[in-house]
Amino acid sequence: MVFADPDLLADAAAGRVADALAAAAAERGRADLATTGGSTPAALYVRLTSEPLRSRVPWAAVHVWWGDDRYVPRDHPLSNVFAVDEILLDEAHGVPIPVEHVHPWPAGRAIAEELGPAWCATTYAAEAREQVPLDPAGLPSFDLVLLGIGPDGHLLSVFPGSPAIGSDELALAIPAPTHIEPHLPRVTFNPSILDAAGAILAMVTGGAKAEVLARILDGPRLDPAASKGLPGQLARRGSASWLVDAAAGARLRSKG
Ligand code: 6PG
Repeated sequence: MVFADPDLLADAAAGRVADALAAAAAERGRADLATTGGSTPAALYVRLTSEPLRSRVPWAAVHVWWGDDRYVPRDHPLSNVFAVDEILLDEAHGVPIPVEHVHPWPAGRAIAEELGPAWCATTYAAEAREQVPLDPAGLPSFDLVLLGIGPDGHLLSVFPGSPAIGSDELALAIPAPTHIEPHLPRVTFNPSILDAAGAILAMVTGGAKAEVLARILDGPRLDPAASKGLPGQLARRGSASWLVDAAAGARLRSKG
């Protein structure tokens, strides 16, 4: 779906997030959201803290996870947790998600105690397996996975040619990418979590993403594990909704 501008996209995305969380909470008493980093989710968080969406979601039932993160403490501005802490969980204006329902990657502890990124990934995988319902393949089944797309076509911290693709590990430590900023080590879920997700919502804005978005959605399917592949194509599937603004969608063949 192509929206005229990022504000309209954020309105639509926030409505879908609220509906998905409310539906999961009504159905099973709990909603597991795996959110994303990048700049796009901030506008969405603002809308979730405001009416009418604020009252649509039973926040006490919501658990927040992150599909990936940078290997930095959560109060680091480049942490994917930072925007959630600043907006969604802000003390004065945030929503009442219980603190024990917020599940950041334990990067802060790993750094402070020199446990390392691999420990961080393994510990997070165990936490997700323990808390999130598992699908028949043993994968945590998040009710909703939010995604952004990087300029190289990556999703999560799964870059073209990533060892995460086809790995048996549920979560992995990824060395700092050199081809893309920020040059920080990452921790990421295996993109196989997309197979188990209740729904996937990808958000893409800005003209700088127009070409890569067209290659992901309209181009031939490439091997995502190849160095010239496009991991973003792993979200080119029926369970995913792609919400893009007009600038990002400018080169798409069909604009629904
Ligand atoms: C990264 C990026 C990336 C991000 C996308 C979308 O760590 O490489 O932050 O994962 O999700 O680039 O970013 P925008 O939301 O800013 O388009």
